[in-house]
This record gives sequence, structure tokens and C-alpha cells, in this order.
Amino acid sequence: MIKILSNISQIITVDTYGKDFKRGDELNELGILTNSSIVIENDIIKDIIPSSSVKNYETDEIIDLDGKIILPGLVECHTHTAFAGSRANEFREKLKGSDYEEIAQAGGGINSTVSAVRKASIEELIELISPRINYFISQGITTLEIKSGYGLDFQNEVKLLKVINFLNQKYPIDIIPTFLGAHTYPPEYKNDHEAYIKILTEELLPYISENKLAVFCDAFCEKTAFSPEEVDIIFSKAKELGFSLKLHTDQFNSIGGIDLAIKHHALSVEHLEVIEDKYFDKLGKSDLVCVVLPGVSLFLNHKYAPARKLIDNNAIVALSTDYNPGSSNISNLNLIMSLAALKMGMTIEETISAVTINAAKALNMHKTIGSIEIGKKADFSVFNTNDYADIVYNVGKNLNYMTIKNGEVIFITD
Ligand code: NIG
Ligand code: FE
Repeated sequence: MIKILSNISQIITVDTYGKDFKRGDELNELGILTNSSIVIENDIIKDIIPSSSVKNYETDEIIDLDGKIILPGLVECHTHTAFAGSRANEFREKLKGSDYEEIAQAGGGINSTVSAVRKASIEELIELISPRINYFISQGITTLEIKSGYGLDFQNEVKLLKVINFLNQKYPIDIIPTFLGAHTYPPEYKNDHEAYIKILTEELLPYISENKLAVFCDAFCEKTAFSPEEVDIIFSKAKELGFSLKLHTDQFNSIGGIDLAIKHHALSVEHLEVIEDKYFDKLGKSDLVCVVLPGVSLFLNHKYAPARKLIDNNAIVALSTDYNPGSSNISNLNLIMSLAALKMGMTIEETISAVTINAAKALNMHKTIGSIEIGKKADFSVFNTNDYADIVYNVGKNLNYMTIKNGEVIFITD
């Protein structure tokens, strides 16, 4: 089956010109093509041709995009979409001046979502999460990472991962499951860290690996969560079982998470709001993706990660919503791009690279998605404008007109 996407004002290819991802200055290069059309064969980009030659091409279908622009399908690389319950009460407390870490220490925070998830059935979770996935699809997102991390015992972490895997089957986009059993200590193991780490390393990780329930193993390295020494034990086991590693680190305290991630050849370090100066050079020289999450800073009234300085130091920067009920109840990736531009000093072009090719790199999928290049997956987001700057300029507004996954139109606005 051959299809042609034609009548496109700008193809924002985000081409890496053979480099696979973008670091430093490269984030500004979007590889824009005009007067061009995209040929799709089944689920793959077969060719990019001058629009003048479309009429001579033998094709089954021509999709006329009416002068709109096209980008690679957006990649949302860090979410906690699999949650139940609400933390609106904490939000109220925060508005009155309570602090996120204090709330967590008093037994709220992540553990309050854990108790809601433990009570929820598989069916209830599916019902809660489904509209959230539809909202991501409506924004042009064709690859979505979802973490566990609100079960925090064998039964409930497995339940969450099974739900995420089921949703991956049910929805046309790729949903990538990440195991985040090391999100925080559940109340029953608050004073026995060793026993919880044993559950993670001796029960959960082997089971998840054997049943192929997750691709990545993530952890939260923080004073109120897991120490670098504790993450070290978990990562050593995860690596032995073949998981790729991701790490939440330097959100509130810089306690050595980045060095640990470098030591374990992790794929990404995520958050980085309080990163120390000595790490800029290290990250600029490493292949770790720095996933920055400005929605958290907005939601918690906290410092923004120094994305500008990371890029200036040649780092690979990606952006994500970090959608979760406690620190970023924001699932609007467009808002995140605008926040990155307005609050982190990123250029419009950099924010686009950060939600496409570099977010794909954060999921180790940069060889097949994240840019419009011949041979890559036919995943696209079509925006209702003729100028890509409008995406970031229209703060919080969903300009996505059409989402195409594996060569099929899976969403179109009416
Ligand atoms: O990425 N930092 C830890 N985890 C989440 C917050 C989860 C929650 O508060 O429920 C985050 O910010
Ligand atoms: Fe997170």
C-alpha cells in the first residue's frame, strides 16, 4: 500500500543527517523542506519527493494536507499516566504554602496515589487511563512512555505494568512500559529499606524481565526516596537482566545520581532542577539524554532545570510533561514546549527537537522514530498552521490537526 502526503507547506524533518540525535547547537537545525511530499509504503517512509512529481507517482491514495505543516510524530518520553485517585487536596495545601517534600514525608505525596492504585481494579485503571491516552494522541503523540511506580508491592506493580501493556495492545500508538518500583518506599517498608530492595531485585525485576512487562528500569534518587547506594543495587540487578536504565535525579537534592547514571551507562537522567555546575561538562560529553520537565517547576513553584546551559554545554536535551497527579498534573506537551521557551530559554527549534528526535533517543528508539527520514516509521503529527513557530507561540493550545501512526490516520479534528 503506497500513500502520498501532499500539499504540505513545511515538512519539519528534524533530520539528524546521520547523527541519530541532536546535541548542543544541532537542536536548532530542523531540516525544513518546502514543495515536497512524503511517500509512505505500509508503515514506513519510503521517499520524500518534489511535489511537482506527485502526479507521476503510482499510488493507492493521496492525502491532501491543505497547506498545513507536518512534523515527526511527537514522542512523550516520561509520564506517570498510570495512576488512580486525585491529589487536589495536596494541591490546595501547596497553594497555601506547603512544600511537596514535606507532604511526602508526612505520608502523602506518592504514597497517597499508591493507596488509590492498590484499591483500583484492572478494569478501573483501564477506564481511568484510556481518556488520558486519547488526549495524548489528539496532540500528535505517537509514542508514549508510561511508568509504574504507584503499586510499590509485587502484586500492584505487576498489575500496573499489565495494564500498561494491555493499553499498548489496545491503542494504535506505541506505549512503552517502564518499571519504577524504586519510586519511593511504601509505608510498610519505610523503616526497612533492605527488605523492599530485596523485593525489587529478587522478585519484581526477575518476574518483569521473564514476562517482558517493561523495557526500562527507572528509579528516584533523592533524599526522600532512594540513595545512590540503594539505586546502585537496583540498577546492577536490572542491568544484569537486560533492562535499559533511566533515573529521576537532582530534582530537589544533588546527591550523586548523575554519577551513578554515568557509571551504569543509563540512557537518561531526568529532572535536573538542582544540578551542580560540575555536571554540565560531564553531561555535554556523555550520551545520556537530559530530560527536563518544566511542568513540574510550574506546578510546584520550583526552580526550572537549566536547559539553556545544558544545551550550551553540548548536552542532548529532551522535554516531557512528567504527567503525574502530584508534581505535574499537566498532560499538555504543547504547554511544556512553550514553558521551555519562556522559562528555560530554549529556542522554538530546540523545543521541537526535544519532543521528537531527542525524546526518541531517551527511549532508545531514535533509529526508527523521532524524525522524518527515509526508512523510519511513518509516524507524523500534522499541525493546523503554515508556520511551525505557531506551535510554541500558541501557549497551551493544541494545534494538532491529524495524527498518523504507522502510516494510518488515527486522529483527525473535525
Ligand atoms: O517525576 N519525582 C518523582 N516522581 C514524580 C512525582 C510523582 C508524584 O508526585 O506522584 C516526578 O515528579
Ligand atoms: Fe517523573
